[in-house]
Amino acid sequence: MCGIFAYTGAQGKDAGKVLLDGLLSLEYRGYDSAGIFTPESGSIKSPGAVAELRKKIPTGFGGKSGIAHLRWATHGEPNEKNAHPHQDCTGELWIVHNGIIENFKELKEKLAHAGHRFASDSDTEVLAHLVEEHLKKEKNFEKAALAALNDLRGTYGIALQYKGEPDKLIAARMGSPIVIGLGDGEHFIASDPSPILPHTKKVVFLEDGEVAVLTPHKHSIYKLNAEKVDRTPTEIDWSPEEAQKGGYEHFMLKEIMEGPEVVENTLRGRVIAEKGMVKLGGLEAVAKELASIERVIIVGCGTAYYAGLVGEYMLEEFAGIPVEVELASEFRYRAPVLNQKTALIAISQSGETLDTLEAIREGKRKGALTLGIVNAVGSTIARETDAGVYNHAGPEVSVASTKALVSQLTALALFTVFLGRQRAMSEETGKEITAELKKLPAKLKAILGRTADIEVLAKKYASSRDFLFIGRKYNYPVALEGAIKLKEISYVHAEGYSAGEMKHGPIAMIDEHFPTFALAPHDSVYEKVVSNIHELKARKGPVVALVTEGDTRVAELADDVIAVPKTLEMLSPILNVVPLQLFAYYFAKEKGLNVDRPRNLAKSVTVE
Ligand code: G6P
Repeated sequence: MCGIFAYTGAQGKDAGKVLLDGLLSLEYRGYDSAGIFTPESGSIKSPGAVAELRKKIPTGFGGKSGIAHLRWATHGEPNEKNAHPHQDCTGELWIVHNGIIENFKELKEKLAHAGHRFASDSDTEVLAHLVEEHLKKEKNFEKAALAALNDLRGTYGIALQYKGEPDKLIAARMGSPIVIGLGDGEHFIASDPSPILPHTKKVVFLEDGEVAVLTPHKHSIYKLNAEKVDRTPTEIDWSPEEAQKGGYEHFMLKEIMEGPEVVENTLRGRVIAEKGMVKLGGLEAVAKELASIERVIIVGCGTAYYAGLVGEYMLEEFAGIPVEVELASEFRYRAPVLNQKTALIAISQSGETLDTLEAIREGKRKGALTLGIVNAVGSTIARETDAGVYNHAGPEVSVASTKALVSQLTALALFTVFLGRQRAMSEETGKEITAELKKLPAKLKAILGRTADIEVLAKKYASSRDFLFIGRKYNYPVALEGAIKLKEISYVHAEGYSAGEMKHGPIAMIDEHFPTFALAPHDSVYEKVVSNIHELKARKGPVVALVTEGDTRVAELADDVIAVPKTLEMLSPILNVVPLQLFAYYFAKEKGLNVDRPRNLAKSVTVE
């Protein structure tokens, strides 16, 4: 996600240097372009990394204050025109923004009508013009900013600067993180504490709906209704690296913890709950072709492939369309039969996995409609597919995919409602699924609140040399995912199996030293999984079971249980993968392994 950094100081430091150094420590968040503004020297923007921006900065560029940004594209191409900071018509007001303004189209129309001219496609620019419009009436920067913020719908972390009061900065937060750094005669605004920490350890984390007004010697915090807020600053003694991890020991844990936010971001602006429909902007151009598609093939690698397996069950059950899921590395080497009535969907976090990309190229050659469920905006798969759905999960740093999977499954559920409602899915079913999707962030928070219990469990089993993961129907791919997670970060032999297949092989391995993780939520195959747990216990196999809250039968049978909130069966993988991710994380941590960078693996596999 985008990174924001802003500075105002009376210490004689060069704002240009402070800002560029700060941007470098935010680069881990992902970027496609960077930009900087100071009232004294104006603005410079560049596609690419901070190093590219630095090359364009002339000697003498600087000032006492300024704002800077690293962009990770959502609205508009990743180019110089769409890079931040954005300005109003007069060039007096400048803004950097992280988030998505949902009502930017209406606001843009109104402002265009009032005579404003726009230079970019970005939703952020609209905000600069909106403040300009209010400034005409209010004649006061703070009041104008507050009035503009009250007009917005969506998410934002913002830093705003006005040439008329060059040492003043305004920050605001709604959904996207903003931290204020309190120095001696200097203040900072950032997306996370990492660029602030070299200057001061005293920070204030803004809450949603709060606005901060900063000058070098003063900081005030308000609510959106202008009511003053008193907040005691926090002292943080994180190293810059810890700061990038949000205070967590590893990126993997931070990314698992982001689950609720990730689901919200994937759903944002896409659910029309009252009609039981979804709106997927990236599919609009091909909506007609999709309505006449007769078959879907999903391709992916690793965790993305498992997401596809869940997608198959969702799409066949609720959209009534035949689906096949195939490992991208297999698909491209055989002779798949495709035609114009086939939609070939690539699922990929990075959008760069070579096998998945080549599968898409093969599909294109054979005339299929190609689609992407991709997290990295502007990546090769996103560019080469005919249309697609972006995950909006934010950058994933840890090699083992966690939050990307949660967002892929959420996007697949949205896609299912989209295709389903084009076909036989009733409004009633559409409403039921979309209403439940909206409840998932709160349910994920409840699971994450039980992290300490999962840590205890993982430690208990961390000396095991083998692990079997079993599940049925929607939770069969979840079992596969549980096994791959454990394998890749703890180097322990783990197998994911369909619970029904257990009797056809793996049960021969079971004894008191071979534990099984059984997915036994209260769904249509519950009784069958309970029988499988009986079979394991009859062979003295230790069993950890994932159950639905309130379940007592499995608790009596299994050695340990993890309870998760009830949800629709088709959506249960979105919740159930999270305890498995946490289990693998603490298991590997207990073994003292490098969780974020497991040996022999790469985040993005761009070789065959
Ligand atoms: C690598 C990663 C996995 C990931 C897979 C697919 O193997 O280690 O975590 O699931 O690639 O990556 P993609 O970027 O295409 O989702």
